This record gives sequence, structure tokens and C-alpha cells, in this order.
Amino acid sequence: MSSLVLTETRDRIARIALNRLDKKNAITVAMYQAMADALRAAEADPQVRVTLIHGRPDCFCAGNDLKDFVERPPHAEDAAQSEQAPVWQFLRAISTAAKPLIAAVGGPAVGIGTTMLLHCDLVYAAPDTRFQLPFVPLGLLPEAGSSLLLPMIAGYQRAAELLLLGQPFSAAKALAAGIVTEIVPQDELLEYAQDAASVVAALPPESVRLTKALMKKRHAVEVAERLAEESRLFRQRLGSGEAKEAMAAFFEKRKPDFSRF
Ligand code: COA
Repeated sequence: MSSLVLTETRDRIARIALNRLDKKNAITVAMYQAMADALRAAEADPQVRVTLIHGRPDCFCAGNDLKDFVERPPHAEDAAQSEQAPVWQFLRAISTAAKPLIAAVGGPAVGIGTTMLLHCDLVYAAPDTRFQLPFVPLGLLPEAGSSLLLPMIAGYQRAAELLLLGQPFSAAKALAAGIVTEIVPQDELLEYAQDAASVVAALPPESVRLTKALMKKRHAVEVAERLAEESRLFRQRLGSGEAKEAMAAFFEKRKPDFSRF
């Protein structure tokens, strides 16, 4: 298991901790694989009742590693190959998890660092969490089913602001949009989420799983279809001039210039 993703199972709780702090927990291909493996292991382990996903209380996740996007973009045409891609394995695992998922977030929660929360059942956020869905400013488009789930959770206008403008937003705004369950002081965040996980772990497991399944059932097929559609379009967008300009600008620490498009 990659040391950039730490996993542990104790007291019926599986824990997945992002641990690449020098890059603000940006997720590489190898980290997606480790997270997908950990989620599947938690699902398969009869001892596990709930999974807790977190980073450090002041740094959850800066999104997909942009260097990977530039250097190892998935092939646009090859759908079969892309289905085996670690990011796809991760999205499938998190979007179909039968056991409850709890997330504790603080600091940056960018891109997939926000969209993965739409698949979690309980989300606790530190007051200073800086959420952002910068897909459009990066020349990309929403992923992880967020083009479907965010309008559903937050309402169209709120989702449109967050997805079209792609600007950072606060924990208070995320709470109002329904992305977050509760705002918790940063120094209590992990303990609070751990306590919630302990509560879930002590509940009757079959009742918990059936309740989650019933709540998720209505949109399960639609979510799977949207994940596939977004993934196809996302792979195309990664090769676009707009995305190349946006990512070059990030690493050159300058403002992107989209005036020629
Ligand atoms: N991919 C690759 N590297 C990333 C990264 C990402 N998504 N996010 C941050 N990093 C790297 C930076 O390049 C920097 O590396 P360096 O020290 O070698 O220069 C390091 O992590 C620290 O980032 P920095 O930007 O200096 O930290 P910050 O506290 O000023 O800002 C963020 C934090 C998250 C706001 C900022 O890093 C950011 O906007 N990252 C990109 C987010 C993004 O667009 N993600 C993709 C979504 S699809």
C-alpha cells in the first residue's frame, strides 16, 4: 500500500488517510489505485462497518495531480482502457459503496477533493475549508457525477455558480449547498468524525446498509451513466488547447490566457 495513502482497520472502522502533504494531497494515479483498493477491501471485509476518509485537518486534498493530467492523460478514444484506469476504479468504488462513508475535511478541498464528498454519507468540515470546483477554469468539465449530483443536492442555481465560475467557496457555503453535514472546529475535526464513525459502527449493520441502499437506489443508474459520460468528455477535454493552457499557467505560476480560443 502506498505511503501516500495510509489505511488502517480498527474497531470495525476502515480509515483512508491522504498523506501527500508537500503537494497538498493532490491525488496521483497510484493514490487513486490505493484508494480504490482500500474502498473495495472495506466493502469485502465483514469486520468493517464504515469507512472514514480524511487528510490532515488543515489539508484535505488539492484535487487530481495536475502533473499526471499533463504527463499521463488517459487516452481519449480508449473507453475500455479508461474503465481500468485507477481514477475510474476509485469513482466506481466510492459511488457504489454499500457501507457508509464518512469524510473529514479541512484546508483545500479542490476538484475531486470536493466531488468525492457528494458520494459520502456524512461530511464534517473545518470552518476554514476552502472548497473549489475549478473544472471550467481548467478547461475541463465536472467529474465524479458532480454535474448530476450537485444540482440535485444544492439546486440548479447554486450548482451553476459553483461549477460554472469554479471559484473557491467557504465551509458555510458548502453547508448551505448541502455538501457538508456539519462544520466542526479544526482541532476537533478528526475526533468528531471518528466518534461519528464509532456511532455508525455500533449500529445494526444490515439496517444501516439497507437504509443507505434505499436512499441511493433512485439515482444509482443515472449516476453510473453520468460518470461514464463525464469520463468520456473529460478525457477529450484533457487534450484540448484550453486545458493545456490552464495547466501550463498553473505550473508557470501565471494567469491563464484563453483569449485565442
Ligand atoms: N497537482 C499537482 N501539484 C499540486 C496540486 C495539484 N493539483 N496542487 C498543489 N500542488 C503542488 C504545487 O505545485 C506546489 O508544489 P511545489 O512546492 O513543488 O511548487 C505544492 O503542491 C504546494 O502548492 P501551493 O500552490 O504552493 O499551495 P497553496 O497553499 O498556495 O495553494 C491550492 C493550495 C490547493 C489552493 C493550490 O495549490 C491549487 O490551486 N492547486 C491546484 C488545484 C487544482 O486545480 N486541482 C485540480 C482540480 S481538477
